[in-house]
Amino acid sequence: MILTSLQEKIAFNDYYNEAPTDQIARIKQIKADFGTDLFLVAHHYQKDEVVQFADAQGDSLKLAQIAAENHDARKIVFCGVHFMAETADILTGPEQQVLLPDPMAGCSMADMANSYQLAHCWQALTTEYGPEIMPITYVNSTAAIKAFVGQHGGVVVTSSNAPRIVAWALQQAKRLLFLPDQHLGRNTALQLGLSERELGLWLAQENRLAAVAPAQVRVILWDGYCSVHQQFKVSQITALRAQYPDVKVIVHPECAHEVVAAADEFGSTAAIIKYIQAAPKGSRIAVGTDNNLVGRLIKQYPDKKIMFLNPFSCSCILMNRIDLPHLAWAMDQIAAGKDGNVIKVDTQTAFWAKKALARMLTLSV
Ligand code: 13P
Ligand code: SF4
Repeated sequence: MILTSLQEKIAFNDYYNEAPTDQIARIKQIKADFGTDLFLVAHHYQKDEVVQFADAQGDSLKLAQIAAENHDARKIVFCGVHFMAETADILTGPEQQVLLPDPMAGCSMADMANSYQLAHCWQALTTEYGPEIMPITYVNSTAAIKAFVGQHGGVVVTSSNAPRIVAWALQQAKRLLFLPDQHLGRNTALQLGLSERELGLWLAQENRLAAVAPAQVRVILWDGYCSVHQQFKVSQITALRAQYPDVKVIVHPECAHEVVAAADEFGSTAAIIKYIQAAPKGSRIAVGTDNNLVGRLIKQYPDKKIMFLNPFSCSCILMNRIDLPHLAWAMDQIAAGKDGNVIKVDTQTAFWAKKALARMLTLSV
């Protein structure tokens, strides 16, 4: 067994010794051979070497919608991270297979909330506040967390639809538990007119509220965050504005609230792309999100002065797990009739997670 996995590892490492041009040609050929039986999707944070093969590209919401609508492809090659592939598996039919070219492509934020912690949190919060709490999970969460949320009458959100869905949820329930990203939760709640005093913070590692939250608390935020978006600071915005007084700054809502407040705009990856597309020629725009996406925008819009908000920030190492060699390996596995890295959520988890995802899709239109 150990020998087999070692042999497989060595065999996989050969993919790093092969000419990229050969891998590109092979991937194109396999795609052509499979036709509509194989659908390759890529998140906006994927590297150009992967995005070049995408049949569809999108933010988390669009990728979820695409998965829900695609009934043709038997194989969906998902170039993104694990929670996105799980979501696609939940939303596609049983005869469809979702493959993630590298199972190590996770999301550090999604890993900041597990079912054990959530069960304890739920117990504590319902004891403190009573049962009228709706759980809301950011799509950047495991299928197990989505299942808990679905089972407790809650809903999934993405960075695109969070304002609309949280506004709806605030009308349905006395209080919300928003997990795992405290920043998206805080930015959304404040955008909707709630005050800081109406926000509580759940310290997941310590299994307690940050302070005894006052009775007026409406949204309890889980204390998760994205390590990529933590790299953006107000001081970077201040320095850029001093150098370029005409600069506009747009950031992702996973950034801390003070960064969002100092920016001109904030939005999902799709909203960032739309903003840049709509900007007049010559506009100077600094973007605070993953650098693979910003680098692509710089190349795509040479008539606009697109800049990195933080040129030294590290792009998402987990998204970057999917590269040309991993994609070539996954495609070779498919061509050889082998499964590769199939992402399969168990039936019970998928059943409840789908409830929370279906609520999101209904509320997103
Ligand atoms: P979007 O839904 O805005 O594409 O964000 C996904 C993500 O993981 C951002 O870090
Ligand atoms: Fe997760 Fe952050 Fe990477 Fe998005 S950028 S996949 S939230 S670690």
